[in-house]
Amino acid sequence: MLSVKKNEPVEFQEDLISKFDELVKRYPEGRQKSALLPMLHLVQAQFGWLSVTAMDKVASYLKIEPIEVYEVATFYTMFFLQPRGKYVLEVCRTGPCCLVGAERIMKHIENRLGVKENEVTPDGLFSWRGIECVAACGMGPVLQIGPEYTYHEHLTEEGVDQLVESLRNKG
Ligand code: FES
Repeated sequence: MLSVKKNEPVEFQEDLISKFDELVKRYPEGRQKSALLPMLHLVQAQFGWLSVTAMDKVASYLKIEPIEVYEVATFYTMFFLQPRGKYVLEVCRTGPCCLVGAERIMKHIENRLGVKENEVTPDGLFSWRGIECVAACGMGPVLQIGPEYTYHEHLTEEGVDQLVESLRNKG
């Protein structure tokens, strides 16, 4: 996965364009926009996040307005609109998880990683954020770790420390 810094120019290589071509072919003429979601996933997989420049290039490829890409990318929380760490610790911050300590866990993660929500650690390994319910409300506090999306329930501060350590060792 490449990491593109804010405002850095983005080049779509031939292999990515070929994948776009394949996706667009699945839809009837005039319905190319239907390929937008999988295209954005491909771009994010390659660059790590969706910069405005990258979204504009997608719009240009599909011959649609940039706003049509932005409105999709900003709707789905699986898309990152700013640089992120290799591992993203996402803590459910919806009511039931908050009742059993989600806010305490987020504070602990912030202190442990030394970065605020949506910031990236200097080594590029971690970022974290609060997210809405992931449908494990009886097992809170809950944490999911992207981009592979592994789930961890009944979180404790010690559990967070162990997770961070094992990811750090993995690199
Ligand atoms: Fe946290 Fe549903 S409220 S998983």
